[in-house]
Amino acid sequence: MDDAAAGTGSGAAVPRHVAIIMDGNGRWAQRRGLPRIAGHRKGIEAARSVVKAAGALGIEVLTLYAFSSENWNRPASEIADLMNLLRRFIRKELEALAREGIRIRVIGDYHAFESDVVALIDSAIARTADNEKATLVVALNYGSQFEITDAVRRIAEDVRNGRLGVDDISNETIENRLSTQGLPPLDLLIRTSGEKRLSNFLLWQSAYAELLFTDTLWPDFGEGDLNLAVQDFARRDRRYGGL
Ligand code: IPE
Ligand code: IPE
Ligand code: MG
Repeated sequence: MDDAAAGTGSGAAVPRHVAIIMDGNGRWAQRRGLPRIAGHRKGIEAARSVVKAAGALGIEVLTLYAFSSENWNRPASEIADLMNLLRRFIRKELEALAREGIRIRVIGDYHAFESDVVALIDSAIARTADNEKATLVVALNYGSQFEITDAVRRIAEDVRNGRLGVDDISNETIENRLSTQGLPPLDLLIRTSGEKRLSNFLLWQSAYAELLFTDTLWPDFGEGDLNLAVQDFARRDRRYGGL
């Protein structure tokens, strides 16, 4: 029996594309009597170590949900704190990430952020554009329903202009207009902090992703947790509707 091919053998089946809903920063801080920003700070450290661990495991693409299109519903002071942490993270970590061979890509409408943050993000994308070792996708002001709506709108434009026939619209037509275009299919989606929902993240892309929910709060999530998640993934039997 070919266990490795079935993805059930030991050491087999490293997911090519892992996405994480990094949740629980606020509760981590609250439990320690600290302000929420302390949780976000610690959460950034967790993200940094998980990026390293993903590289060591040979994961090709790691997609991190950092700011959702619904997170604008938070108090302005928390949004400002998150933006400051994003600024600091790029300034502090960009060179190291670039040297590690990581290509940074962003999904979501980050152009809605303040102009200096947009410029920092653009510089991170440009600085790492030629890297090929692994890809770090950061979801910033990302919402999956908008992503799909936007794809549909552009398809409608193409039909109206005669560039596309209605009968030619396929799954690929949509996929090619999503912000994840060109990335390998999502294999494993992890959410921390015990919540069991997708919160508008990668809805289309999760069609056949394996889902893993853990009670661990994001600031406590580390290399060991990612290793366990990948081991769990390797034991799963992905049938894709077959037998
Ligand atoms: C996730 O942690 C980080 C972001 C959404 C930016 P939360 O801030 O949602 O933490 P909880 O869910 O309140 O604990
Ligand atoms: C999802 O977490 C978004 C990110 C992790 C960036 P939220 O904490 O915003 O999700 P809900 O509000 O609990 O669904
Ligand atoms: Mg949350």
